[in-house]
Amino acid sequence: MSAAKSRSGRSGTADRSVMAYVGQPLNRHEGRAKVTGQARYAADHAPDRLLYAFGVGSAIAAGELVKLDLARAEAEPGVVGVLHRGNFPRLRRSPNSFSNATKVGEVRLPFEDDRIHYAGQYIAVVLGETFEAARAGARLVRAEYRPAPARVTLAEGAWPDGATISEDTPDYTRGDPAKAWMDAPVKIDAVYSTPVEVHNPIELHATVASWRGRQLEVRDSTQWVVGQRNALAAVFGVDPWRVTVLAPHVGGGFGGKLFLWPHTILAAAAARKWGRPVKFVVERRLEFTTVGHRPATRQRVRLGAAEDGAFRSLRHDTLAHTSLVDAFLEEAGATAKALYRCPNVGVTHRLVPLNVGTPTAMRAPGAASGSFALESAVDELAAALELDPIELRRRNEPSRDESQNRPWSNRHLLECFEVAARRFGWSRRSPAPGSMRDGREVLGWGCAAATWPAFRDEASARVELRPDGTATVYCATQDIGTGTISVIAQVAAEVLRLPPDRIVVAIGDSSHPRGPISGGSMATATVAPAVAAAARKALRRPGAGKRVVTAEATTAPGAEERRFAFRSFGAHLVEVRWDPALARLRVARAVTAIDAGRMINPKTAENQILGGVMMGVGMALLERSVYDPRDGRVVTDSLADYLMPVHADAPELETVFLDHPDPRRQEFGGHGVGEIGVVGVAAAVANAAWHATGRRFRELPITVERLLQAPGI
Ligand code: MOS
Repeated sequence: MSAAKSRSGRSGTADRSVMAYVGQPLNRHEGRAKVTGQARYAADHAPDRLLYAFGVGSAIAAGELVKLDLARAEAEPGVVGVLHRGNFPRLRRSPNSFSNATKVGEVRLPFEDDRIHYAGQYIAVVLGETFEAARAGARLVRAEYRPAPARVTLAEGAWPDGATISEDTPDYTRGDPAKAWMDAPVKIDAVYSTPVEVHNPIELHATVASWRGRQLEVRDSTQWVVGQRNALAAVFGVDPWRVTVLAPHVGGGFGGKLFLWPHTILAAAAARKWGRPVKFVVERRLEFTTVGHRPATRQRVRLGAAEDGAFRSLRHDTLAHTSLVDAFLEEAGATAKALYRCPNVGVTHRLVPLNVGTPTAMRAPGAASGSFALESAVDELAAALELDPIELRRRNEPSRDESQNRPWSNRHLLECFEVAARRFGWSRRSPAPGSMRDGREVLGWGCAAATWPAFRDEASARVELRPDGTATVYCATQDIGTGTISVIAQVAAEVLRLPPDRIVVAIGDSSHPRGPISGGSMATATVAPAVAAAARKALRRPGAGKRVVTAEATTAPGAEERRFAFRSFGAHLVEVRWDPALARLRVARAVTAIDAGRMINPKTAENQILGGVMMGVGMALLERSVYDPRDGRVVTDSLADYLMPVHADAPELETVFLDHPDPRRQEFGGHGVGEIGVVGVAAAVANAAWHATGRRFRELPITVERLLQAPGI
């Protein structure tokens, strides 16, 4: 693996030549704490008189809970009690608004009624003096149900009848895509599908809840301490200042920990009821049903072009599922609106409610699944036109964001392809499928574009500067493993002109000045200017350097937000090796070039891209959560059955950052990179698989069963 490569950038507000720490690939600020075990995660906390909670999930996917028999569970030694509908307190639903930071994963409260909407829905929670007692008790809970027919898959032929129109995302049209389609001489019309994927962070969802009077303290594995605090306050009907959510370290989230899920409410309710702290660690099985997933999609892409490859008509129609209790939309068609130049575009989404847990955002929501369809279709068109797929993209490069009719703040997609192609050796590609061999293996080379919005939000930070040359930065954001702590330390060190190891980064506490969600790849661009502004203000305080001074600042995007289209771009070039004798397909190497402004820390940023690409390899070849159509239960509910790539599956990976600063986004010129790495990877792998085998794989994952249908097998 190579280190991130920096190229000379343009001058920005903050000039690289005078930056000591910003832009440096420094080691993780909290790295020592993590490798020595001093970094404590939610479930590491064990306050006095702690009770352990263990959830019981419904065995049926639809119908009614008729009766709970708790006698054996309650008689189990060490079991203290059982929380269930019969003794659950009256709570309120959260207003569930993203902009007011009260958004929840599932708006229905646990135990709201006796209806069962999905298998694995909580029907009881057992409290024990030990984890083992609670778990043993949970296994002894008996339930009687009145089952109803359950629907758990996007049924063939269900499109679009019976589908619900999503009100959040109206259909999008520009030009006349239907007419342009009729007139287009070259057309691709294909349906692609993606399965349910589950985030499966290695750190399970976990909550330790304690009440002191009307004060609630929650140690939680969350991507949003502020949102969790506000939503809990709403649910329990207390003022937000009475709730403190603490998450100094989080072991991965990928979207599954953005919003409040039932186990956190259940832990807080149990803690209040029993008057003792309660720890609730969601067992891996219930991670598949109670804390969100990426919903399945079926996507039809119709792409019509002129003989020279110029796109004339692009339509992207998506069918995705949601649950029966909430409407979550996987916005797979969003990317099609602006990635390429095209005068006639139509995008629709339809939702089908199923008897599954509520889906949620998963790394690059919409874009990860949508880019599989779009970037596969572009590759199919390139093959139909006998054009190099990179050349086809060159011919459809837009000069502005045509969906918003705004200039790009920063767009170097074609340079991403050029840089990646050079490093990959793409010019040696011979276009015919199956034409590149290495011994008994057939090589397949494929590519795809990546894009993700470059969001920024409002944020505040406080800096305490001490005369001994140390400082503390306070901000109610969190580091989910991405590098936010390091970025904050580097920005503060830069402005305060102190070595980064003199900076204490105090985040993961909802009582600090309000910081961003760790989601949407917006944390870095949001928090960096706030930290810099607070640091500058501290330096200007009278007596700074002689006594302790503090300063707080709030920063937000301005008019540029409406003047420019802010996006990040990238290119993935992938080599697969196909062994027809064994029907074995492996990803051998991938080169990824990313255009996301200037990286504040290229090392943690590269780590994000590598992780995203690996997640894309999993999406392409392995990951899917399968529901049994007979009973609606998840049959892949363990890490043995839900396959993810491990180190042995890791190809040779190379990441290059173009490093053109985007000072319009924020003064240090960088975008976030948490999500873009995964976008397009599955398409690049599928396109490479076609180049190797001659077969198009329009359904993910590309399993051995699907490979066995390849020509020559
Ligand atoms: Mo990301 S899906 O916003 O954690």
